[in-house]
Amino acid sequence: MTMKIAFIGFGGVGQSLAKIMKEREKNLNAEHGLDFSIVAVADMRLGAVYHPEGLNMDLLFEGISEHATVETYPEDHQTVKGWSSLETIKHSNADVIVEVTFTDVKTGEPAISHCRTAFAHGKSVVTTNKGPVALAYEELLQLAEEKGVFFGFEGTVMSGTPALRMPETTLAGNQITEIKGILNGTTNYMITEMEKGLSYKEALEKAQKLGYAEADPTSDVEGYDARYKASILSSHVMRSPIPPHEVECEGISGLNSEKINEAWKDGEKWRLIARVEKNNGRVKASVKPERIPMDDPLAGVTGATNAIVYECDLAGSIMLTGAGAGLTETGYSLMIDLIHYHKQRTPTKI
Ligand code: HSE
Repeated sequence: MTMKIAFIGFGGVGQSLAKIMKEREKNLNAEHGLDFSIVAVADMRLGAVYHPEGLNMDLLFEGISEHATVETYPEDHQTVKGWSSLETIKHSNADVIVEVTFTDVKTGEPAISHCRTAFAHGKSVVTTNKGPVALAYEELLQLAEEKGVFFGFEGTVMSGTPALRMPETTLAGNQITEIKGILNGTTNYMITEMEKGLSYKEALEKAQKLGYAEADPTSDVEGYDARYKASILSSHVMRSPIPPHEVECEGISGLNSEKINEAWKDGEKWRLIARVEKNNGRVKASVKPERIPMDDPLAGVTGATNAIVYECDLAGSIMLTGAGAGLTETGYSLMIDLIHYHKQRTPTKI
């Protein structure tokens, strides 16, 4: 059964996924029995294009440029003009919505509305937007379960590094008592640069130059990005929903070279640690800078790399390290979700 995909949002992440899937089309089919066709793309800049039999991907990529609009997509390959994102979700024949819009992380919109609409119409969703998972986890999961559809969001924590799937697959059967990690690459990069002698200001400027930090770096340096990820880990891995505003949060803006050097002299390093811990059945989440011994595995994580440690009652301490951002990695996280969605809906042959 061909998987029909609609992209809602077609910026860097969406295009990255489409390119990876096109390049790997033969492998996806040979290795996973996955056939797909992209039936719709709705994007603020591009407009909406839809063809129930599948869009011509070459034409679609050709159509993408700074000034592209739906008008640039050839007339004979376009059945709909002027659909909104919601209309595309409702009226296209897609089985699964790739929700990669530019979404306000504070409100989770428009991604939350896109998820609700998709589920209400019996369509599955894969997304890398943190808002829907951090702010509406229980509601959306319940809606998806009621309709028997799939909700994938692997890329919301550590992009293509399988931070969410590992505990429920490879580590299944353990009781996880604590999760701690470095979940924000920008701030880890800045701390590492400060360890090399740069000031806070210089480290931030360098992070911005390299494209790690946004022009407004507040979300990274104040710990808000990591707080959302801690909230998602608490809901999804610890099964204890904690909304982002209840995650105790302190960023790195209070760190400076003096503090970094002081710790270094005592054989310690500063790291921005996100922590979700279970004590007597109660789960608590926090994000704050901590001084940790040089021989702590998290102290060895440098640059923009992310890492996560699961304290498991049977397997012990398991650490996973990898990229936490990047277009290819984030596109890949969506492909992983699509492969799992495919496996879930394809009956196993005995
Ligand atoms: N801005 C984040 C980081 C990536 O620096 O890790 C997206 O969550």
